[in-house]
Amino acid sequence: MKLTPNQQAMLDGQQGWPFQIAMRMLTAVGRALDAPDLIPVTSTHLVIDGTALGEAGRDFLERLVAEGGRFAIPASINAIAVDRTKQDMTKEERDQIRMLEACEKMGALPSCSCNPFIQGIQPGFGEHVAWSESATAPYVNSVLGARTNREGATAVASALTGLTPRCGMHVDQNRHGKVLIQVDADITGADRYSLLGALAGRLAGDRIPVLDGVGKTPSIDEYVAFGAAFAIHGSVAMFHMSGITPEAPDLAIAFGVNAVPGPVIIDDHTLEAERLETAGGDAGPVDVVSIGCPHASIDQMRAAATMVGRSGGAKTGDTVFYIHTNRSTFDTADGEGLIDILTGAGARVTADNCSVVSYDRVTAGARLATNSAKMALFAKSVSDAEILFGSTEQCIQAGLTGVWKD
Ligand code: F3S
Repeated sequence: MKLTPNQQAMLDGQQGWPFQIAMRMLTAVGRALDAPDLIPVTSTHLVIDGTALGEAGRDFLERLVAEGGRFAIPASINAIAVDRTKQDMTKEERDQIRMLEACEKMGALPSCSCNPFIQGIQPGFGEHVAWSESATAPYVNSVLGARTNREGATAVASALTGLTPRCGMHVDQNRHGKVLIQVDADITGADRYSLLGALAGRLAGDRIPVLDGVGKTPSIDEYVAFGAAFAIHGSVAMFHMSGITPEAPDLAIAFGVNAVPGPVIIDDHTLEAERLETAGGDAGPVDVVSIGCPHASIDQMRAAATMVGRSGGAKTGDTVFYIHTNRSTFDTADGEGLIDILTGAGARVTADNCSVVSYDRVTAGARLATNSAKMALFAKSVSDAEILFGSTEQCIQAGLTGVWKD
């Protein structure tokens, strides 16, 4: 792998341990992926979920700080496992806060959200960035036309050095479609886009899909819901929507060097089959309702408050009714009186974390209702939850009444 003299000096430890360990990570990944060299990146998004990183992650981040590590480029932070404002934290929760504080000392912005786009953190077209959190990469690549791989721990190395290996989504010819998905269904609303994303992700697997027939440009909330479900049900970091997304003005350009294959059809029938696959549970009592995955935007908070107000009653029963968002959206919603409406009806509006990225996560075997195909799969795998999947309105009704109705 070709390195500049400055990069070689970092790798040799001449600029300190944090930069040496970062260069070791980047060159190891780069060599494994046949990257010829490292390229500059303009921002990173870091996952520091304490439930996954534990004490080892805390120690690593604090050592980076102690030994002079400082981020070379802007870095935002994904959802963390506890609300920063919580009182009486456990040891694990305090460890999570220490990880966040270590990142802040190195220059990170404590955005604490899996949906940084609603906080205005949006790389520009053609920018090379290094973002972790699988749900962010499809939006960055496909909607914004910026370039990122689905980063993991290497995002911290990129934050320290401002570099990433030249491979994957950073290379033009790797950004072309390989699967054609014909959408013959009316898709409106984040929950329907979430379902479409789950199905498209599973159909595409490790190949970039081109969706044709979507018809209209999705809203940011719809794109985010689609991308999050797409990423977790498939394994690529990009999709195209023909005539809509910036690198797919038509099918020929979207497929680029690849031949346009015959289409796989998604229609109302296949979407209903996907809904049934996503939601194994039957109508009846619900333990937990979770909406706001990825973190709810202010528009989604307003819509939720309107639906709660329309239903005209406070929550009954023991069902835990979560609405997840980030701190800045929470504060905006609070200023508009939305938090009072939602909590007054019995909802729990969380900031910074969610039902599964949390030390206080959904208990094993719970019946969980959600409008997010990402939350559905995540809750199924981390908590073995029984999933009920439907529209936001259905979820809110279940949250208030404690009963799921098909
Ligand atoms: Fe975000 Fe939690 Fe969903 S971190 S993407 S709300 S599973």
